[in-house]
Amino acid sequence: MDKNSNEPYKRVLVKFSGEALAGKDGFGIDLEVLEYVAREIQSVHSTGVEVGIVIGGGNIVRGVSASKGGIIGRTSGDYMGMLATVINAVATQEALERLGLFVRVQSAIEIQEICETYIYRRAVRHLEKGRIVIFAAGTGNPFFTTDTAATLRAIEIGADVIIKATKVDGIYDKDPNCFQDAQKLSTLTYDRALHDNIKVMDDTAIALAKDNALPIIVCNMFKTGNLKSIILGNRSLCSIVKN
Ligand code: GTP
Repeated sequence: MDKNSNEPYKRVLVKFSGEALAGKDGFGIDLEVLEYVAREIQSVHSTGVEVGIVIGGGNIVRGVSASKGGIIGRTSGDYMGMLATVINAVATQEALERLGLFVRVQSAIEIQEICETYIYRRAVRHLEKGRIVIFAAGTGNPFFTTDTAATLRAIEIGADVIIKATKVDGIYDKDPNCFQDAQKLSTLTYDRALHDNIKVMDDTAIALAKDNALPIIVCNMFKTGNLKSIILGNRSLCSIVKN
């Protein structure tokens, strides 16, 4: 399929930030928010699309922040962050299973007692069987963000698009909080995102998406039904980064 066409998506990867799970407390997992996220994923899955998920770990540990005081090194801080994503993945798996969905967690770092280890072919098999696959522990390497991990997994599993579920409804030409005339961009190129330093994702993730012509959708996950509408073709609810 031409990934830039308007055909319905067959397989998507949705990236949630860990902070999104934290709710008002700003830390840990807010169970109401977790349930909301699970219902949104359920409604995406109900369209018949195959769903892979990556969740960050920033609600528990952020590698960069953990290493700021100098006590914890960046490498260990990043590994701690990867472990945090496993906690979020297991919590999300439980929440989705309570809704009757079939879910497999695959970790880039082997933790056999808790979840499967990431095996590309196995992940694809799960997706083909209609299971939701949550990819945990980032890429398994420090110095890479979960956005990069999500982009990598999206490319590996042949997703048609990566959906970055955020707190904003898209990308603006200027800060909408400061400028009333800020315009939402329905589409923009990878080159512009990189050149204008529009931090849709970090540069590594955008470059990887560009090299593999993987469109990046940015949308607001806190509007009920948004993700599903976008999957069903309502692209006015988001911005798309593509060639
Ligand atoms: P099929 O091969 O398509 O039947 O997939 P399946 O995931 O149902 O098969 P399997 O019997 O391998 O898995 C059954 C359950 O065990 C699932 O919940 C898996 O996530 C889990 N599981 C499989 N491998 C591991 C592992 O290495 N560690 C852990 N903790 N769980 C695993």
